[in-house]
Amino acid sequence: MAKRRTPTRHIEDVEHKHHPTAGDVLGPFYRRGAPFCTRVSPLLAPGDVLVVSGHVSSETGEPLRAALIEIWQASAAGHYDNDDPAHPPLPNKFTYRARFKTDRDGYYEFETVYPGPYKMDERTWRTPHIHYRVHARHHKLLTTQLFFDGAPYLDTDPFRKASLTIRLQATQAPAGAYWRGKFNIVLARQRRSAAPAKRRSRA
Ligand SMILES: [Fe+2]
Repeated sequence: MAKRRTPTRHIEDVEHKHHPTAGDVLGPFYRRGAPFCTRVSPLLAPGDVLVVSGHVSSETGEPLRAALIEIWQASAAGHYDNDDPAHPPLPNKFTYRARFKTDRDGYYEFETVYPGPYKMDERTWRTPHIHYRVHARHHKLLTTQLFFDGAPYLDTDPFRKASLTIRLQATQAPAGAYWRGKFNIVLARQRRSAAPAKRRSRA
């Protein structure tokens, strides 16, 4: 019987099994310091309930525990808490914003409502999306956005990327129906700059 050969893989493939998640624009509505919780929308906020979960890992597939994820989004009506300059939010009041950390397996999960589209300028609509900033030790900060298959304005949104677009599953629970989606995130390693070589003294 012929001996089965183990396929050989180039070392580069082993070291970088996964491509880092694509970045996207920060946008004008980011605010620092959102509360630590895994519910992004206010309790009983209008809109379709949405649960997003996933894993954060390195390029080598190693789970990144205690990675900090910041989330912000528009309400179902397409409004951010700071999009009306005439009525800015109080500095300590955050709506449709949260931050939390991944568990020991790099897992995260949050509950919110499906965000509404909004007009970016006179002619351009933003398709429904959720903003992410993901921080982990020894990895590059990732600023990105999550998009949804079948959403309005998906094909005309200038910032939408196919690799950041997920399909949601309609899910039934005793408390009612909700949407569920999975978004796994891969962070690029922070490359250390090479230390300058010491000059050998001739003295
Ligand atoms: Fe946005």
